[in-house]
Amino acid sequence: MLCIRIWIFVDYLLLILIVSQQWNNINCQTPGYEILTDQYVRVQRGLCAHVPCTFTVPRNIRLSRNTNGFWIRSLGQASHYVAYRSNFRLYTNGRFNLIGDVTRGDCSLYIEEPLITDEGVYVFRMEDPPTLFTYTNIRPYVDVTELTDKPTISSTRLVDGKEVTMTCTSPGRCRNITPHISWVVAMNGTRQMIYNITYEGGTRTFHSNISFTPRKSHNNSPLFCRVTFKQDLSTAEKQTLNVEYSPSIIISTEGVDTNDTTAVIVEDGDSVTLQCIVDSNPKASITWYKEDMVVHQNISYQTVTLQLINITERDAGKYQCSAINEHGVTNRSIQIIYQCTKSQIGSVIVGAVSGVILFVLILLIGVLLYMYFRKKRKQNADENRRNTSANYTNDIYSDPEMTKPDVLPQKALQKGLSEVDDSIYVNTGDVQYSSVVFSKLKQKVIQSQEDVEMEYSVIKKAPRK
Ligand SMILES: *[C@@H]1O[C@H](CO)[C@@H](O)[C@H](O)[C@H]1NC(C)=O
Ligand SMILES: *[C@@H]1O[C@H](CO)[C@@H](O)[C@H](O)[C@H]1NC(C)=O
Repeated sequence: MLCIRIWIFVDYLLLILIVSQQWNNINCQTPGYEILTDQYVRVQRGLCAHVPCTFTVPRNIRLSRNTNGFWIRSLGQASHYVAYRSNFRLYTNGRFNLIGDVTRGDCSLYIEEPLITDEGVYVFRMEDPPTLFTYTNIRPYVDVTELTDKPTISSTRLVDGKEVTMTCTSPGRCRNITPHISWVVAMNGTRQMIYNITYEGGTRTFHSNISFTPRKSHNNSPLFCRVTFKQDLSTAEKQTLNVEYSPSIIISTEGVDTNDTTAVIVEDGDSVTLQCIVDSNPKASITWYKEDMVVHQNISYQTVTLQLINITERDAGKYQCSAINEHGVTNRSIQIIYQCTKSQIGSVIVGAVSGVILFVLILLIGVLLYMYFRKKRKQNADENRRNTSANYTNDIYSDPEMTKPDVLPQKALQKGLSEVDDSIYVNTGDVQYSSVVFSKLKQKVIQSQEDVEMEYSVIKKAPRK
């Protein structure tokens, strides 16, 4: 009797409900009147909360089409309703919505973009005159908190040079909220597209797709997705880009003074440290080869050091560093060139220099000798020419300059040439000599000046037998 009061009439437009003192004091569990809902509801500013709720009335009562439900902010004397619903009327304060079908015992509440001042205790009341009841055994406490949920960015695998689409999803699945989504990325040429997905019950999720081609240089750079709601509320999520790429190699040498990364010259007894420095993502497996033989291998470090201590000739050769990960293999090589020690080099230089000097000396002597003999022969030839009246011998000495047909006396030609059967050496200008045998030469060959082969030859006397 105390729990049930007759509701005379409520002006639905009256926003402030003066709740009688009895309401708050009703603690008795009236049989048949039950409510099932959450004791505690947390809702973030900018977002929404769905509070499932059902209520019952005694079995002998049947709820009519005119049943009304109210959600009331319970503030003692200043209690007021924030939402109500019947078949005929619907009221919301803009944030609280009674979405359940009250005629079926559904008192579900939906709260969207609450204010901080909305925090507090709420009660549900049903009215279907003459049945009126306020359910106080469960009075949900609505806790309004700051916006802490963040957007979610899809974890997409990024590989150097391969275009990807990443999705940012706004937090919350609400009915009327339309957030704005934006991306902040350190790269150009991105394409963005915002879209939403509507679910059964009218709730929606908001997404933004961004498409781009990640590069090795983007690795570890940040990517932000920012979602902005009304009242300048915003929330953002950051993702550090993890761009995978194939290995690249730098070979560094320590212990030798060189800028050359392809070859180093070492001396006997030297020590050289070869470092294979690999840049890759994910980590590469690194191997040092010497002429195709594995000499060092490592996976856990990205720099693999090969030390050559007290080098001997056997250490010389081609060293190759190879790095492999799932995106590729790279290899780079360095030639270790062995050289004798400095003292050995010294003796080699001394030997080479003395050799050169000796060669020059021999050459000089040769040239001097040649010039001497040439002069001598010229003198002889001159002498012979002076004796033209004398019986011309069948020996002819001549030089290229001198070899003119008129030099040869006609007499001698007529008389003698056919007798020239000695070997005659033709000087072609070089030191080369070849033997030509003039035998029974025909006279007309000699008489025609153009035909004289001797024009470009030096005819020399064959050594006497
Ligand atoms: C957004 O990107 C996701 C993931 O790549 C894809 O499944 C979805 O179809 C895209 N949506 C639109 C509308 O392009
Ligand atoms: C170096 O790379 C080539 C191809 O890029 C490969 O054929 C060769 O086997 C590699 N050498 C080593 C020692 O891995």
